[in-house]
Amino acid sequence: MITTGFLDVLPASEEVQPTWIDAPVLSNVHLADRYHRLRLAAPLAAERARPGQFVMLTISSPVLALPRPMAVHDVDPETGTIDIIYGVVGVGTREMAALRPGATVGTLGPLGRPFAPPPSAPGRALLLGRGIGICSLSLLGRELHAAGWDVLVVASGRTPQAVVGTEELDAAGVRVLRVDDESGTSAPELLRDLDFAPTYVTACGSARLEQLAADHAHTAEVQIALEAPMACGLGYCHGCSTGARTAQAEAPLVCADGPVFRYRPATP
Ligand SMILES: Cc1cc2nc3c(=O)[nH]c(=O)nc-3n(C[C@H](O)[C@H](O)[C@H](O)COP(=O)(O)OP(=O)(O)OC[C@H]3O[C@@H](n4cnc5c(N)ncnc54)[C@H](O)[C@@H]3O)c2cc1C
Ligand code: FES
Repeated sequence: MITTGFLDVLPASEEVQPTWIDAPVLSNVHLADRYHRLRLAAPLAAERARPGQFVMLTISSPVLALPRPMAVHDVDPETGTIDIIYGVVGVGTREMAALRPGATVGTLGPLGRPFAPPPSAPGRALLLGRGIGICSLSLLGRELHAAGWDVLVVASGRTPQAVVGTEELDAAGVRVLRVDDESGTSAPELLRDLDFAPTYVTACGSARLEQLAADHAHTAEVQIALEAPMACGLGYCHGCSTGARTAQAEAPLVCADGPVFRYRPATP
């Protein structure tokens, strides 16, 4: 996580009430590398989720007690579905990969404070995502593009296969620059030289991209979506404290005060 500057708490979503349901699994397919895509029937979450928000997923299993936080990658309010793209990293996501249609997943959400684009006329938005972090930016990219913003999404991964979650952006006509470590195209010094002067910058998924976003803070609105281990997702356990400084809080919680924060540099 970025260690210089301040993280300001953004306004809460207008859709204040998260809901809990046992959401039926409609599909759960392997995409590439360690990544899978889960579709759940969760009509209220599909209707209410804003870009950057997440859900807490509880999987019924003898080896799991805690829910897992997952960003809402896509929604279809008409069919009442939400899509999550997840990477298998530990016991919870391994159990998730074994879910088949007919199973249900305890789904609490949508949770957290969403991205808050500046209320100015549409400008230029630079969205920086790494790995699974790209999925937190997908709804935002499409929403800004539809509102007339000039949007550039930088989708970064270890390998070309690890760049996931970009199909909907492509389909919506959003410009996506795919970069990866294998080809050497993801180096920060290369991304710093993009010929694009943004007025709004967001980042999710890597400290290097957060720093890149922070470098724009004197000329653009910068918002960063953070991750932290979470047990409750509701602001009770304080397990997800950022430990970061903010104007409003001693150590804001990623779940209740974030996951999206405004970045402000230490020196004006
Ligand atoms: C707001 C938010 C959105 C996220 N969105 C996605 C997403 O869209 N796709 C995706 O693949 N992953 C996402 N993550 C990370 C994901 O929650 C973890 O990878 C997952 O919880 C790991 O669970 P596990 O049991 O497989 O791993 P384990 O390491 O076995 O997890 C053990 C415990 O630590 C917690 N934990 C471990 N790592 C993380 C982490 N990085 N973030 C939060 N909790 C963690 C787990 O919830 C669990 O309670 C998100 C995290 C946050 C905070
Ligand atoms: S996860 Fe419990 S307070 Fe944030």
